[in-house]
Amino acid sequence: MSSIIVLGCMWGDEGKAKIVDFIGAEVDVVTRFQGGANAGHTIVLEGKKYVFHTVPSGILYPETQCVIGAGTVIDPLGLREEMQSLMLQGIDFTDRLFIDERAGLVLALHKQLDHKSEENLGTGKIGTTGKGIGPAYSDQAARCALRMGDLRYPEWLEQRLNNFYKYHQINLSASDYKEELESLLEVGKFLGPFMAQTDQMLRDWYKEGKKILFEGAQGTLLDLIYGTYPFVTSSHTVSGGVCVGTGFPPRWLDRILGVFKAYTTRVGAGPFPTEIEGPLADQIRHKGNEYGSTTGRPRRIGWFDAVAAQYSAALNGLDSLAITLLDVLTGLPELKICHSYIKHNQVLPGFVSHPIELNEVQPEYLTLPGWDIDISNIQTWKALPKETKQYLEAIQDLLKLPVKIVSVGQDRHQTIVIKEKV
Ligand code: GDP
Ligand code: IMO
Ligand code: MG
Repeated sequence: MSSIIVLGCMWGDEGKAKIVDFIGAEVDVVTRFQGGANAGHTIVLEGKKYVFHTVPSGILYPETQCVIGAGTVIDPLGLREEMQSLMLQGIDFTDRLFIDERAGLVLALHKQLDHKSEENLGTGKIGTTGKGIGPAYSDQAARCALRMGDLRYPEWLEQRLNNFYKYHQINLSASDYKEELESLLEVGKFLGPFMAQTDQMLRDWYKEGKKILFEGAQGTLLDLIYGTYPFVTSSHTVSGGVCVGTGFPPRWLDRILGVFKAYTTRVGAGPFPTEIEGPLADQIRHKGNEYGSTTGRPRRIGWFDAVAAQYSAALNGLDSLAITLLDVLTGLPELKICHSYIKHNQVLPGFVSHPIELNEVQPEYLTLPGWDIDISNIQTWKALPKETKQYLEAIQDLLKLPVKIVSVGQDRHQTIVIKEKV
């Protein structure tokens, strides 16, 4: 009987899917608990690339059960498209994908509102993925949203859709309304067989001794409350989000693994104290292929920020760390890790999440030597260059947490499990 949470601990795209897929061999169930198609989770298996948006990253293991929990928001048409494209690649969803009927629906209007609000904000925009996430979660809080389970009841669905447009004070033409209703009923027929009350299933599975993995989307610094608000997403990305998003009791959470990139990236607007620009950032972006998996936008690049990482580790109650994309740093003459923030010549006690304050801090860095040796096929801690070990140990010391997994390439096999450091 065990459960593990795998979380992105910075601003997303930490390589969560790669780690979920790596651990996936040992688990029976993989569950998403928040977010929606704003996520872009990439897995490379024997050179073949898969990008998941709503489907959990455990789906590549044919025996693994996958759950999309109640805390997510689902674009039903997008999910059907994602599933159909995976089916064409030979993935079978029968009796192994379960979508909670309480998950919120992302409708076409949500995406329009997302784009419109970004347009209206102009230079003050958040830089959202445009997937309608903010408006969909807002409507849930306003109680005018539709939910997955509504797709199963035509008359109720019609009533809810009507109320939804009334709430938004939109007078949809009869033909547009009919078209949307029909398309929802049709997608409901496709998704209907996958719907369930997944909270009970997860609890039963846990009691039966199955191993359950909770797959985070986005990252802690994008959490609606604890992130760098307002430059955040609209869900709870922290470990606490698991229980609300799945109905899994907090007492049953056994381990929490935090995923960090060996450096930092961010897509979209908002403060980023360790950001670097110019040729070095371009080099890292190019080597790490740092372009959004969902939107294709170039990701902003920065040094590892141990102050933000400590905040994230504490908020989530991490047990251990997975460090990804370490190979991308190969060949750089020296590497930096931010160990403290300075403001008015004073060292701050820790992370500050207000954007004004975060923009004002001055990062103080440790400078460490780089390495030249290609590490992308190394399989053990022992075989890593001494400078690489030194870099990982510095992160470990600053976070006071053990590094348990190191990723040195995109593929499943390019992963080092650190059992014992020699
Ligand atoms: P996620 O959203 O956290 O799952 O991360 P993304 O999939 O959006 O972005 C991570 C990117 O880094 C993907 O393209 C991965 O295939 C890639 N990746 C993951 N781990 C490694 C690694 O150790 N080295 C390299 N070079 N790429 C990696
Ligand atoms: P994964 O799961 C990186 C960012 C957007 C924007 C902010 C709000 O692949 O790590 P939203 O569309 O959620 O309203 O956008 O959050 N963002 C992500 N950044 N990875 C993600 O997901 C993200 N999902 C949202 O860029 O800054
Ligand atoms: Mg991503």
